[in-house]
Amino acid sequence: MDAKTLENLVETNKMYQLVTERLEVIDPAAQDIYARFNMESELMEVILELYHNDEDNFPFQKLQKFSLEQVLAYLQASHKFYLSKKLPEIEQTMMHIFNKYGSTHQILASLTSFFNDYKNRLVEHIRMEEKTFFPYIKSLISASKGEMTTQETKTLLSECSIASFDDNHDPIEDDLKTVSSIIHSYSLNEETPLPYRVFLNQVELFEMELRKHAIIEDHVLAPMARELEAKLKAA
Ligand SMILES: [Fe+2]
Ligand SMILES: [Fe+2]
Repeated sequence: MDAKTLENLVETNKMYQLVTERLEVIDPAAQDIYARFNMESELMEVILELYHNDEDNFPFQKLQKFSLEQVLAYLQASHKFYLSKKLPEIEQTMMHIFNKYGSTHQILASLTSFFNDYKNRLVEHIRMEEKTFFPYIKSLISASKGEMTTQETKTLLSECSIASFDDNHDPIEDDLKTVSSIIHSYSLNEETPLPYRVFLNQVELFEMELRKHAIIEDHVLAPMARELEAKLKAA
């Protein structure tokens, strides 16, 4: 096996792990969240493909064959995964660096304050989706199944909309680029210490993860929900 093949294999394996790792955070006892068995391997496979592909050429219609519930369940599992696993992991590396270089490296003050601020914004972004956007989509699903009265559906449609989500959905992952620019500007003339490189690596992987997540929200979830919304409006 040549080095390139090995490198690709390691890369594929890393991606696979990243994509499937979130299945571990789903609480099997939780009743309201679509359970693990709903996260069919087929869906995970298509998502893995998205991780490997150039985003501009990704055939989104491949994801449209899954139900809105499945896509929602996947996104919710991802939210949980970010909050309970990814953010703490990155924070831990940050703490490690701080303990090692805290007294000598000035850069750490700006890095820590940036990251704390970023974390708050990310938590707020996820909270908005979990408290407003996702429940609205769940209600659209209920309405489409005939579980709501005409009046209830009318009120629902007048109070919220997919269009307002489109307008307010910020590309939160972009800000993470600041981390690399802080680190790079600091270590311009010298070699970046290893712990910083590890940290940077984690942050860059997380940035990619959040970008793919936003793509699924914007290009799969929102269009599917918009279609359902339009149908209910026309009814
Ligand atoms: Fe999200
Ligand atoms: Fe989002």
